[in-house]
Amino acid sequence: MKTATIASGQDDEAALRREIVALGPWFHNLRIGGQQTAPDHFLGDYPAFKFARFESAIPADLSGKTVLDIGCNAGFYSIEMKRRGAAEVIGIDSDDRYLAQARFAADTLGFQGISFENLSVYDVGKLGRRFDIVIFMGVLYHLRHPLLALDLIRQHVAGDLLLFQTMQQGPPDVLQVPDDHPFHVPGTSRPPSFFDNPAYPRMHFIEKKFANDWTNWWAPNSACSQAMLRAAGFTVEMQPEEEVYLCRIGPVPYAEWMGSPAVYPAFGPQEEKRP
Ligand SMILES: C[S@@+](CC[C@H](N)C(=O)[O-])C[C@H]1O[C@@H](n2cnc3c(N)ncnc32)[C@H](O)[C@@H]1O
Repeated sequence: MKTATIASGQDDEAALRREIVALGPWFHNLRIGGQQTAPDHFLGDYPAFKFARFESAIPADLSGKTVLDIGCNAGFYSIEMKRRGAAEVIGIDSDDRYLAQARFAADTLGFQGISFENLSVYDVGKLGRRFDIVIFMGVLYHLRHPLLALDLIRQHVAGDLLLFQTMQQGPPDVLQVPDDHPFHVPGTSRPPSFFDNPAYPRMHFIEKKFANDWTNWWAPNSACSQAMLRAAGFTVEMQPEEEVYLCRIGPVPYAEWMGSPAVYPAFGPQEEKRP
């Protein structure tokens, strides 16, 4: 009898392993039934080690809150938000293979009430509603149009908090930029030197691959991440980790310009005001 129980336990373990392998390769190293989904991840125990650095910045009790996890991958952050009691969690991603992993992980770990949908960040308007917390982690630098994505998030789905992370390159320093930039250094024909300063908001364009991945298009420096968030209408409240920003919705600068039908057809200036 005992032998049979041990044998069936081993069978279950092997079956789980087979399912995990069949759904791979995994980017999120999740722990499911005592097994890791990506134990040899090139970044280490990702994203658990990263989350440990900033998890205290997020309210421990999310009862009654709604969460949208954009670029959810295998659902690590969606599951963590549900673990904190969020009333509703929606994870969206543009890759069905990751969504299959997320559904499997949430089901097997017993987290009901998370829905995972194939939806691009560019289409968040289709959700037709706002969320208390929007998570936009690790996606910006994969996009060809990163500022458009932030604008769309602000316009359509951000209801209060935005948890944002991007890969960054360059120094962590942030240059205070003037309200206006003169074309020339006054009294000369020389261009101003702001742009030579590595702490000036700067987005590095990666034409070829980065880390063997052609989907890495951009690498902002820290000043640029913060400037882009402000430009899209978010106020940075906290930087709990070098690459992570906790933001709240704020005024949208130049909303009238963005409301121009020729530029962003759907971006009406009605609820946004220039600060
Ligand atoms: C580096 S992973 C980050 C995953 C997770 N958010 C995290 O921080 O660990 C980037 C994820 O963004 C997804 N993604 C890429 N482009 C997207 C888009 N246009 N809309 C939605 N998701 C996208 C990818 O499929 C992938 O799952």
